[in-house]
Amino acid sequence: MNMQESQREFVFKQEEFDFLRKIVNARTGIVVADEKLEMFYSRLVRRLRLLKLDSFAAYCGYIREDITGNELLELTNAITTNLTAFFREPHHFNYLADTLIPSLVQHATDERLLRVWSAGCSTGEEAYSLAMTLDQTLSPNTHWDWKLLSTDIDSRVLHHAAEGVYPADKVAVLPEETLKHYFLRGKTLADQVKVKPALAKRVKFGQLNLMEAWGFKNPLDIIFCRNVIIYFERKSKIKLIDKFADALKPGGHLFLGHSESLYHLSDRFESLGNTIYRKIE
Ligand SMILES: C[S@@+](CC[C@H](N)C(=O)[O-])C[C@H]1O[C@@H](n2cnc3c(N)ncnc32)[C@H](O)[C@@H]1O
Repeated sequence: MNMQESQREFVFKQEEFDFLRKIVNARTGIVVADEKLEMFYSRLVRRLRLLKLDSFAAYCGYIREDITGNELLELTNAITTNLTAFFREPHHFNYLADTLIPSLVQHATDERLLRVWSAGCSTGEEAYSLAMTLDQTLSPNTHWDWKLLSTDIDSRVLHHAAEGVYPADKVAVLPEETLKHYFLRGKTLADQVKVKPALAKRVKFGQLNLMEAWGFKNPLDIIFCRNVIIYFERKSKIKLIDKFADALKPGGHLFLGHSESLYHLSDRFESLGNTIYRKIE
């Protein structure tokens, strides 16, 4: 037994860790590595206290018997990594505004509607960054409209995203003019800002597990799925990328996180550099 083990409030055996991480993997595609045991413990200990359970063995039993699926959701919520930021990896937003959208506008056919999906949107910063970029580049005089769907598996972060309230320091990266245009700052929100209703109502948030079937009626133009597949095992990545290709229009674009790649995962995309991919027509 190491120091950390002896200091634990609850006994957490390897077999319980294995049972729980297997469930997480089957549901989400996320691989929980051996060295994540401590993280797993510290995130789940709150659930045990809340449920007034006296051991991880009891928690495993609780999960097994929970026919509502609610605890499975709580387990997933506790284990997902939700780190995000406004205009994270800004080159992607610059590419949208300076290259991709002007090119789409220039080569427009009849349908002047851009369908965009932020898949794994966490607390909403990526979605609102996309919404601001789309709003600024597809101004009314381009005669284009856009729809933005933003989804995540984690119900807790979606709640935060839909509220659209953030600590003021999170938006410090934005130019003052953009901040004034899209965010409210008032006495009641001392150190916080809130996305203005005009922008908020343009973003549709919903819960969606990327491992399950999803049915888009219309093909998409752009998918942002950044810093999500990095946590997935290879077979889940392959399946997911294939589903992304099916969901996109020919020539549609997929944006991944900076440490992610389609290398050896799919031959349905060409790389445009900077983890931007274009579906081969
Ligand atoms: C690190 S955040 C990335 C947020 C944002 N895309 C960014 O790059 O800043 C990863 C998000 O993926 C979500 N996620 C993980 N597995 C998922 C799954 N199977 N289906 C949907 N979302 C998932 C997590 O809940 C988490 O909010």
